[in-house]
Order: sequence, then C-alpha cells, then structure tokens
Amino acid sequence: MLVYLDCDPGIDDALALGYLLAHPEVELALVGSVSGNTDAATAAENARDLLALFGRPQIPVAVGSTDFLTRPYHGGAPHVHGGNGIGGVQLVRGTAPFAAGSAAEELVRLARSRPGELHVLAIGPLTNIALALQLDQELPSLVAQVVIMGGAALAPGNSTAAAEANIHNDPEAAAAVFAAGWDVTVVPLDATMLQRFEQSDLDALLAGGPRQQALGRMLGTYYDYYQQHFGRPSSALHDPLAAAVLTGEAVVSRDARVPVEVDTGDGPGRGQTIADLRGRYRPVPPQHPDGVRIVFDIAEPFAPQLLARLLSL
Ligand code: RIB
Ligand code: CA
Repeated sequence: MLVYLDCDPGIDDALALGYLLAHPEVELALVGSVSGNTDAATAAENARDLLALFGRPQIPVAVGSTDFLTRPYHGGAPHVHGGNGIGGVQLVRGTAPFAAGSAAEELVRLARSRPGELHVLAIGPLTNIALALQLDQELPSLVAQVVIMGGAALAPGNSTAAAEANIHNDPEAAAAVFAAGWDVTVVPLDATMLQRFEQSDLDALLAGGPRQQALGRMLGTYYDYYQQHFGRPSSALHDPLAAAVLTGEAVVSRDARVPVEVDTGDGPGRGQTIADLRGRYRPVPPQHPDGVRIVFDIAEPFAPQLLARLLSL
C-alpha cells in the first residue's frame, strides 16, 4: 500500500508514523509537514528526526505550508504537545535534505508518478492537501483514497466546543478537501477519543528499546494533558487510529457515508464538521455515494494492536 503521510508531529503523529513503518504492507513513500501542533518547519524536522530514529532516514520529507489558507499560523499547541511538538524530547537530528518541492508539490508529483495507487493519510490540518488540489485539479482521479484524522460528528470538539483541532486550524482547506469528489474517510473524535493508551502501555514502551523509550517520553507529556479529560494517566490515539483505519488493521464496526459541511464562518461554530446524519435511525446507515465516510467505531480495542506494532519497531 503506497502511502503519503501529511502530518504535524505532534506526539500522536509520532505514534502514527511508527505504526506505519512497523506495518509490513505499507510503503511510506513521502512525508509532508504542515503547521498545526507546531509550525511546519519544526514539524518537518521532527518528522526527519523520527524517521532517523526509526531507521528509515531515506524516506523523503517535504516541508509544507506554515500558514493556513486564510489565516496565519497561530503558535501551535505547546500545552498539548510541548514546546518542540514532541513533548520536549530531544532526538538525534536527522541529516537528510528535505525534498526540493513543497509538500503540496511533492504530493502531486508522487500521485502523478503512480496513478491510482496512492493512499493519502492526513493527520494534521488539511492545508497541503487543499493546496495540492489547487495545483492539480486532476488529483482526485489519481489518488486511491484519502483518510483523515479530523472532525467531530456527534462528539464535542477539542479545539473549541464545536470544532476538532485539525479542522479548526484550517476549515477552508477541509471544505475544499471534502468537496473534491474523491474517496474520503474521516476518523473523527467520535472514534478516536474511545481508543486510548493507559499506564501499562506507557510502561511497556519505557521498558523497550531506544525507539520505544523515546515514544514513551513523548507520551508522558500527552498523558499530562489528557489527565484533565480522563482523570488518569492516559491518552487518546487520534492519529494512529486513522493510520490503522487506512491499513484496515482497525476493522470499522460503525460508519456512515453522508454529506459533510464545514463551518468556515467566524462565529463560535468555526471549524465544525456538520454531518447530515438524519438517516442514522434507519436499519442500514445512510450511504450517500458522493458523501464523506465517517467512522464512528471499530470492532476491537486498538491499543493492543498499536502497542504490538510499536514494540516491533
Ligand atoms: O484533534 C487531534 C488532532 O489534532 C491530532 O491529529 C493531533 O495530532 C492534532 O493534530
Ligand atoms: Ca496530528
């Protein structure tokens, strides 16, 4: 499975990257950075350092957009991901040069080189994906599927009461991506807040090798943030769950394919993903052919699968 990863590492992004690299059927061809948890330049450095840590320094990293489509970068989420985006953990610096083009340019180049094969996994704001659509309007016909960690259908937001962070950071980009006519799967907070790492998972990582210990030290910062939400040392598994939906390892047990609007206004609902779920009470969930697939739940707990993959890195 040929994969492009667009990310804003980001502690859970780091877990998702490790998961993808540990999965035997994934060919991770390119990583693009985007502002979100931290700025795009720092996210690119974090991605390059993580690839070096995981023994895959040859995978290219393309630096993406610092600013969002209509708003400047705002300083990120240091209260969640730490000042450097990965929990303050200092990794050995990767030395590979960044790709010549921007993340959007390199995504288009990759999609054109392998028509119909590329799976796009977006686990940060959708700015680069929207810019790639502006560069090449044929992109949807060249891409197999787009899987997005983002949004909240029936669940509350996390960035605001109504909006999830990736969408809230760039609602205009999300609206363009949802409307582009390609096969889009959204893994929203409805699903990702239900899948968690606990103290035992953190302990297992800290007892592992250097790669697992680095992830464990990052996760400690994430647990500090999620203590207020879960009342115990724990964290949600947003980005790695989206990665496992992409690979199919996380078997979806409840989903719906429906029209989704994004609030691009300036009011309290900015960044809200408004899914038309009025058909949800039917025996068979709505499956609008031109809708966005929303994942609500998976068949088995994901944490054990993720831990096993990360311990095998
Ligand atoms: O809302 C969670 C999402 O926002 C995750 O992708 C996290 O890394 C941040 O980017
Ligand atoms: Ca992310």
